[in-house]
Amino acid sequence: MQVGAGGVLNIDGKVRFGPGVRVLVGPGAKLTIGDRSYITANSKLIVKTEVVIGTDCAISWDVQVMDTDFHRIAEGAVNTKKITIGNRVWIGSRATIMKGVTIGDGAVIAAGAVVTKDVPPNAVVGGNPARVIKDEVQWVP
Ligand SMILES: CC(C)(COP(=O)(O)OP(=O)(O)OC[C@H]1O[C@@H](n2cnc3c(N)ncnc32)[C@H](O)[C@@H]1OP(=O)(O)O)[C@@H](O)C(=O)NCCC(=O)NCCS
Repeated sequence: MQVGAGGVLNIDGKVRFGPGVRVLVGPGAKLTIGDRSYITANSKLIVKTEVVIGTDCAISWDVQVMDTDFHRIAEGAVNTKKITIGNRVWIGSRATIMKGVTIGDGAVIAAGAVVTKDVPPNAVVGGNPARVIKDEVQWVP
């Protein structure tokens, strides 16, 4: 776990991290994780500006959440943008959550999804780029 100068790691309650989880919060950046959420083995949270993870989230192994592209393709293109993950979100193994994405409460991210756009509440999304494959679901923790 690494928090740069002026960076904030805000754990709001009890959060569990599996073995090999890497948390990198850059200088002046902020990461918030809500109560009862857990992140399992080898997942990475890479924060250059801000990532908010809600309560009761299940983040599987080998997931990557990164709010920055690190490099830039075109002049002026935004390469870093806040990520918001709602409450009770289940993120499947090897999914990648990209910059600027908001994931609605109760959503499910299928294994291996590359999420580049917002996800509606209670939807299941999968694929690369991730698309809605089911809606109005309730997943069971
Ligand atoms: C998200 C998930 C739970 C959905 O399961 P489900 O509701 O049984 O979904 P289905 O098997 O009915 O699939 C529905 C459709 O989505 C597609 N789909 C399922 N998983 C997918 C995936 N990972 N990526 C892309 N498409 C996927 C199916 O092919 C199917 O497509 P079709 O309608 O064209 O036939 C499951 O696919 C998944 O990713 N499980 C792994 C979760 C995980 O990583 N757990 C680790 C411990 S937390």
